[in-house]
Amino acid sequence: MKREWWHGLVGYQIYPRSFYDSNGDGIGDLPGILKKLDYLKGLGADLLWLSPMYPSPMVDNGYDISDYYGVDPRFGTLEDLDRLIAETKKRGMYLILDLVVNHCSDQHPWFQSAVADPSGKYGGYFYLKEGKDGQPPNNWRSLFGGSAWEKLPGQDNLYYLHIFAKQQPDLNWENPALREEIYRMVNWWLDRGIAGFRLDAITNLKKDLTWEDLPPDGPDGMGNISESIARMIRRDGGTRNGIGVFLSELRERCFVPHDAFTVGEASHVSPERLSEFIGEDGYFSTMFAFDAINSHIRGVCYCEDDRHMDPDAWKRDVFVNQAALKDFAFEANVVENHDRPRAASLFIPEEEYGFASVTALAGLLVLQRGMPFLYQGQEIGMTNCPFELEEFDDLSTLDNYRFSLKSGHSKEEALEGCARMSRDNSRTPMQWSAEENAGFGGGRPWLKVNPNYPRINVARQEAEYGSILNFYRRLLNFYKSEEYHEILTYGDFEPLYEDQEKIFSFRRTLGEKTLTVICNFSGSERFLSLKEDYSEVIFVNLPQVTRIGDNLILHPFQLIVTEK
Ligand code: GLC
Ligand code: CA
Repeated sequence: MKREWWHGLVGYQIYPRSFYDSNGDGIGDLPGILKKLDYLKGLGADLLWLSPMYPSPMVDNGYDISDYYGVDPRFGTLEDLDRLIAETKKRGMYLILDLVVNHCSDQHPWFQSAVADPSGKYGGYFYLKEGKDGQPPNNWRSLFGGSAWEKLPGQDNLYYLHIFAKQQPDLNWENPALREEIYRMVNWWLDRGIAGFRLDAITNLKKDLTWEDLPPDGPDGMGNISESIARMIRRDGGTRNGIGVFLSELRERCFVPHDAFTVGEASHVSPERLSEFIGEDGYFSTMFAFDAINSHIRGVCYCEDDRHMDPDAWKRDVFVNQAALKDFAFEANVVENHDRPRAASLFIPEEEYGFASVTALAGLLVLQRGMPFLYQGQEIGMTNCPFELEEFDDLSTLDNYRFSLKSGHSKEEALEGCARMSRDNSRTPMQWSAEENAGFGGGRPWLKVNPNYPRINVARQEAEYGSILNFYRRLLNFYKSEEYHEILTYGDFEPLYEDQEKIFSFRRTLGEKTLTVICNFSGSERFLSLKEDYSEVIFVNLPQVTRIGDNLILHPFQLIVTEK
């Protein structure tokens, strides 16, 4: 595998709105991130991904961009961003931005011009289609609810496509003029000194241009648009008609010349297609390994999802993913982000939440093969937040609530489902201290603060040697240690004890060196007959390793790493 500058780095996602508020208006901002850079460096984060900070009406919290060349005043100024680029570089860190180019905001001048003159130049930047018999052009359901088509303002029968909210019109990538605009913008940012991008919803770029109806999959007679997207990738992939045409152009025109790092939010890529998307000749450097953490998702609404991740399903999916990758590429391993509930709540039943379980999850994430990505607050074990209906902010949560009711669930069930799965769970303000509002800043935060902040916060955990935060520091230190960084980065991955329920174990090997990770991901003590001997235990989350002959007695959620 060709060595790249970003191999072996630890990624960390910042959701700027909720990270740290420097001026007391209740909204996290860029100067706030600057203030916390040393904290992030001390944690062991190398590559920071900022969720969108561009000017935006904030219908989808910045994933609806109205100006690709700026910073929203709520978050600061372009100078603040330049300072952030400079200060990360000074610390040997890297900054990447979120590239949201499947759609823009309906307030973007391009869309405004398309509304004013649908047959003019900017009309061609969007997918505009005539309706059929007073109905939208087809039965596609948007990912945020309702038809994926909305009437263009001022028109009787002309619709525009939106995969997400109606305030997020999809950009027409079939149009070379639009693509040129995007490449110019991407290069403008890369020239400013950022190290690359996280690519938002990037496999959605290619639409089914036959615009055929989907088989209905819900009470509304519509079909989920992601089914249509998935079909396109399955069928055409990178062929002359496929998404690869856009993605390789983007790569050649922008990423290759800058030696940029890119991580794709790339859904629907099957294991056989991975090498087309990532690795040496792939469209992106890497992509998030979501296939490994989605087994709890069951139906079209949150109520139907499993309450908790089944550890054995999770393990199986990780192993399948790792097998598909073998040695041609790395995936970016995650357990949480701004679109998911907190991992400490999803992977761990409430009664088992604690130092052992949270650190076991951390170890399994970081020690796998691939690039580890953390999400703000994960390093202190932040959990889901008890929300009431009025307290939600996220538009897709509210849509899910309505959809649950329509699908026959009671109000209580719908609320319970949302409380468990809402994206707002991971968006509550970062818990810095036990001071008012978790020390997030002076003002009233834009979203509810998790009431558990007096217990779970950075200041408290800095002071406690045996805290989750200090474990994360120790873990990332171990990951990057001179002795083990090479093997933990490039070492092969091989599943162990596969048939042992809730034992999550694997081996990393590089040349003569072998590390074995064994974790009892359950709340009960386990007895494990060792298949192979080891010479030394080199890393643990819980101190005593009890061994009787060839048998290990593993405490609940104990994780140990041994060397041959
Ligand atoms: C991605 C983002 C999500 C956003 C959506 C639309 O999935 O992660 O937060 O709502 O794209 O931009
Ligand atoms: Ca602020």
